[in-house]
Formats: sequence, C-alpha cells, structure tokens
Amino acid sequence: MSALIRARGLARSFAVGQGMFRPRRTLHAVNGVDIDIKKGEVVGIVGESGCGKSTLARMLLGLLPPSAGTIELEGKDLRTLDRQAVSRRVQPVFQDPYSSLNPRRRIASIVALPLEVHGIGSAAERRRSTLEMLERVGLPSRFADHYPRELSGGQRQRVAIARALVMRPEIVICDEPTSALDVSVQSQILNLLLELRRDRGLTYVFISHNLAVVEHIATRVAVMYLGRVVEMAETAGLFRDPRHPYTRALLASVLTPEPGLGIPDTGLGLAFPDPLNPPPGCPFHPRCPDAIGICRVQMPPLAPTLAGVAACHVHAPAQGALAA
Ligand SMILES: Nc1ncnc2c1ncn2[C@@H]1O[C@H](COP(=O)(O)OP(=O)(O)OP(=O)(O)O)[C@@H](O)[C@H]1O
Ligand SMILES: [Mg+2]
Repeated sequence: MSALIRARGLARSFAVGQGMFRPRRTLHAVNGVDIDIKKGEVVGIVGESGCGKSTLARMLLGLLPPSAGTIELEGKDLRTLDRQAVSRRVQPVFQDPYSSLNPRRRIASIVALPLEVHGIGSAAERRRSTLEMLERVGLPSRFADHYPRELSGGQRQRVAIARALVMRPEIVICDEPTSALDVSVQSQILNLLLELRRDRGLTYVFISHNLAVVEHIATRVAVMYLGRVVEMAETAGLFRDPRHPYTRALLASVLTPEPGLGIPDTGLGLAFPDPLNPPPGCPFHPRCPDAIGICRVQMPPLAPTLAGVAACHVHAPAQGALAA
C-alpha cells in the first residue's frame, strides 16, 4: 500500500546565537529522516527531550519548512500544496490544551473555527457539526457556550481533539497529547483517540515520552536520537526484541516511571550530548555500553532487523559493513 505521508532525507536546522560576540551556530534538530506513514497506522515517536520530535511533527504538519529533504502527501510534494489544503487533511493535537485554545472564545466557536476558515457550510450547519463533534468527544451540548477556563484539563483536550477532527482530516499528529493530564484522565483521552481512529479510519503520528502509552496506542514505533531515527519497528516486535542499545535503555527506563518527569533514568547518565557539537561516528557511541571501534568513526546506516530497521554496527550490522 502506498504511503499517505512519505518523507525522505528530511532535515531542519536552526541558527542559534551564543551571545553577543560569538558567531551563530547551526543546530541540526532533525537530521535526515526517512519515514513512510501508511493509512490506518499509528506511528509512535519516542526519544529524549530535544531529540527533534516536535520539529519533525511541525514539518509533517506543514507548519515549518524543512531545510532539506521532501515530504509527500499521497504523492504530492507538500511545498506545492497550499496551507489550507494541507490543514484539511493533516491536523494537530498539542500537549497543552490551555495555551492552544483561545481563552476569549467559547468552546463551540473554537471548534467551529476551522470550518469557518475553510468556508464550509452555513452558520447553522457549522453549529450542528460542532455540537455533534463535541458530543462525539464526550462533551454534551451544555459545554458549547463555556470558556476554556471553565473546563478541566481533560475536557480541554477533548475540545482540542474536536477542533482537530471537525474538518474530517485523514491524519492527526498528536504531540504529547496526554502528557499534561492526570494519569486517570490520560487513559480516557487515549481510549477516545483509539475509538475515533477506529470509527473514522484515521492515521496518527503519536509523540510521547511515555513508552507505556506508545506501546498501548502505536502500531509502529520510531525511536529518535539527536535528530535521527535510530530504530523503527512494528510495536510488538520493538518491545519484545529492541535491537538498538538506545531503545533498550529507553525500555529499561519504563521500569522506573516518574509521571511528569519525562523519560526518567535511562541508565545512561545525564550526558545527553550537545546537539551543537554531536559526536563523530554513531552519535550514541559515548553513552553506549556496547560500542566498538567502528562506532567511534562511522555512522551506522539503518539496516533490517526482524521487526523493522535499526542503525547499529553491533546489533544490526548492515550487509558487508563490518567486513569492509
Ligand atoms: N525555533 C527554534 N530555534 C532554535 N532551536 C530550536 C527551535 N526549535 C527547536 N530547537 C532545538 O531543536 C532541538 C529539537 O527540539 P524539539 O522541540 O523538536 O525536541 P523534542 O524532541 O520535541 O523535545 P521535547 O521532548 O522536550 O518536546 C532542540 O535542541 C531544540 O532546542
Ligand atoms: Mg516536543
């Protein structure tokens, strides 16, 4: 089946200042990502803070232009599509439902806004689809004329989901959609997202720090490290038999969950490398318990594993790479 989204060599760098008298330097937030997202998939994206997850998400949403590489939406280069055409098909749900909802608008008007912007339906039709959508995400019509501040965190995230879905998009890009919520509310929102996916045949990209959440919701998982995908595999296979030592460290960290503190103790120490000065060779080698000589000098390519691909000279050697 052909991909709904196909990204090749996707990269985004930022020029970052280092104070008045020092030159600006280039930070490679996303650095050569190839990814295919097929209809109906839930692609989980995990990795430590700063590895480039949100930057990747913003590019897939068409909100941030890549510095290199291409994104195709069903074979069409995203650069050739206008902003509205993309937002009809690809919608975001972000982490903090409070800052992403206009505090001065009532709930119904927030959810109806995308329909207004795209000029869909009459005012009465928009009101009807908005109320239906609110009902569908578990907010009865009495909430329609409330303001965001009158709702709980979980209710606000339901509003954000209703707003994302009211246009009937095909792809929803969720960036930490449950991270700001209490644990009990998190599972309600996750189950709602899963039900909506089933009912509407949606495709999700689902970014989360929480590997248990990703295991629950994703059909495939991409593990990112310093702007690159270092392992990508079908979910059950990745959790059963992680190949990359970084994936193993992340999975080991699930055993010491600390809600709200992001990925807790990875067992790798605090030495997350400086993204302005990434190490040579495999970017993970300074923290890797299994590194060998080649890891210090040569970047491993993504090579096939049983459940997907991994970039590791030791645990997923590319054909002929070690012999070379
Ligand atoms: N607009 C920007 N200007 C400069 N640097 C940026 C910008 N946006 C992101 N970065 C940098 O790019 C890198 C990746 O950031 P990004 O927000 O994509 O990470 P993330 O994986 O989403 O992290 P988190 O888990 O904390 O949300 C970080 O080093 C960040 O500081
Ligand atoms: Mg982020």
